Amino acid sequence: MIITIAHTKGGVGKSTLAWHLAHSFKNKEVKIIDLDFQQTLYFVNIISGDTLNVLQPLSVDELINELDAVAPDEICIVDVGGFDSDINRAAIEHSDRIVIPISESITEVLGFRTFEGILKELKVDAEIHVVLNNIHPLTKNFDIIKEAVSKNKMKLLNTVVRSRKVFKTTMGDGSHIFKVADHLLAKQEILGVRDELR
Ligand SMILES: Nc1ncnc2c1ncn2[C@@H]1O[C@H](COP(=O)(O)OP(=O)(O)OP(=O)(O)O)[C@@H](O)[C@H]1O
Ligand SMILES: [Mg+2]
Repeated sequence: MIITIAHTKGGVGKSTLAWHLAHSFKNKEVKIIDLDFQQTLYFVNIISGDTLNVLQPLSVDELINELDAVAPDEICIVDVGGFDSDINRAAIEHSDRIVIPISESITEVLGFRTFEGILKELKVDAEIHVVLNNIHPLTKNFDIIKEAVSKNKMKLLNTVVRSRKVFKTTMGDGSHIFKVADHLLAKQEILGVRDELR
């Protein structure tokens, strides 16, 4: 299964979600394709002691070759950079699932409209899932996002990934939330996203 974490808006949590989600798949072959020139996951993976196989295809053809080689029981997570490009579009068109992290602010909703426009230009066969990410612990009302998502053939995941320091700290030291004790809610959130994608 090819899961592309995508949004043209920067800083919405694509790389963070991709990293922890990748480690949530137990007993499965998992690889990451890092399409961002910032190479976030490439570097985090080095810090982690190469816990995952992180690939960096440089052209659309190379990307498609990698994606075509993904076995049915293998998980390939593509971390798309926060910009629009041919290679990002190709990843979106060759995915089984697209995950769009988004928070509840008005700037996010506006940024989402831009990305929606791009998705409409593409031939997308994948299921498109929007996930609320980096959400303040007390925020309960997501009407603004629900309304934005409901106009599309997209699904807003039930799981809400809250703003939690552990998502940052573990990634910063090359670790991940499943490697640390406690933090059950953070683990439940990432497992919740994983299970809703299946
Ligand atoms: N659920 C969360 N809880 C706390 N912090 C978060 C969460 N998700 C993301 N962040 C933080 O938000 C910032 C941006 O996250 P990240 O780099 O993953 O975004 P991105 O969409 O990959 O950005 P870019 O488009 O630049 O690649 C980082 O500092 C990250 O630690
Ligand atoms: Mg990123």
